[in-house]
Amino acid sequence: MLVVANQKGGVGKTTTAINLGTALAAVGEPTLVIDIDPQGNASTGLGVPRAERKLTTYDVLMGQAKLAEAIIPTRIPRLSLVASTVDLSGAELEMIDMERRNSRLKDALAEYSVHGSSPGQSPFSYVLIDCPPSLTLLTVNAMVAADAVVVPLQCEFFALEGLSQLLKTIELVRANLNPALEIQGIVLTMFDKRNKLSDQVAADVRENMGEKVYSTVIPRNVRISEAPSHGLPALVYDLRCPGSQAYIKLAGELIQRERLRKAA
Ligand SMILES: Nc1ncnc2c1ncn2[C@@H]1O[C@H](COP(=O)(O)OP(=O)(O)OP(=O)(O)O)[C@@H](O)[C@H]1O
Ligand SMILES: [Mg+2]
Repeated sequence: MLVVANQKGGVGKTTTAINLGTALAAVGEPTLVIDIDPQGNASTGLGVPRAERKLTTYDVLMGQAKLAEAIIPTRIPRLSLVASTVDLSGAELEMIDMERRNSRLKDALAEYSVHGSSPGQSPFSYVLIDCPPSLTLLTVNAMVAADAVVVPLQCEFFALEGLSQLLKTIELVRANLNPALEIQGIVLTMFDKRNKLSDQVAADVRENMGEKVYSTVIPRNVRISEAPSHGLPALVYDLRCPGSQAYIKLAGELIQRERLRKAA
């Protein structure tokens, strides 16, 4: 179970969740995307209109629905979704007084037995949680539920500064709420090969974060930004474009790392 997080807005979290999910499903791994962002961009990008978002992440966190009831299929074979709507912005406040407010998503997933001791118990090989651009209760719930974090990092000047804040939060969650939480990897996004700064930032991040950085880099690619308005993952909208190809490579790396992690 992986959480896609970075408190910085617009760095490619949703794009990464959608396209990794699609790539994993395409190689035969049943995958669930959980949209825990009130913006609902992952839900829109996967082609699920508002009218079809009946039971959502909000209902699950509030205890008004079981996870199983909120899971809906997408147009992509083997890719399912728990959608979100703006209602979810209220959840943050409503959860403050609730029991186990940090663990509500984890509890819902446990009941669904995604973590079941026998592998056959969950129909999903992968669960990807798409976070909002904040480190508040919604993101904490995702980090408490997950085994590892995938961090999209945009190749721009302040990338490393934002990263240190995120690393501190991951450390806090690990110390207090989820000792098993790891960083699966950092993915450099919107890399522009014509821009020297992109190269510089990529080199800096690799120097600081070493092997945590995936070798796959996601290029800036207009086809990727066009895809969501068609309600399609870039991988379906234009499989051959450089962005889609990069996400397929990234999925390969992610599967490899997940195997090593589970074997450890
Ligand atoms: N590799 C890319 N090339 C070009 N455009 C991209 C790329 N990745 C993401 N984008 C575009 O950049 C914008 C932000 O991406 P995305 O929504 O994935 O970021 P986010 O981190 O989820 O944002 P938020 O913090 O608002 O949730 C979107 O319009 C998206 O289509
Ligand atoms: Mg997003």
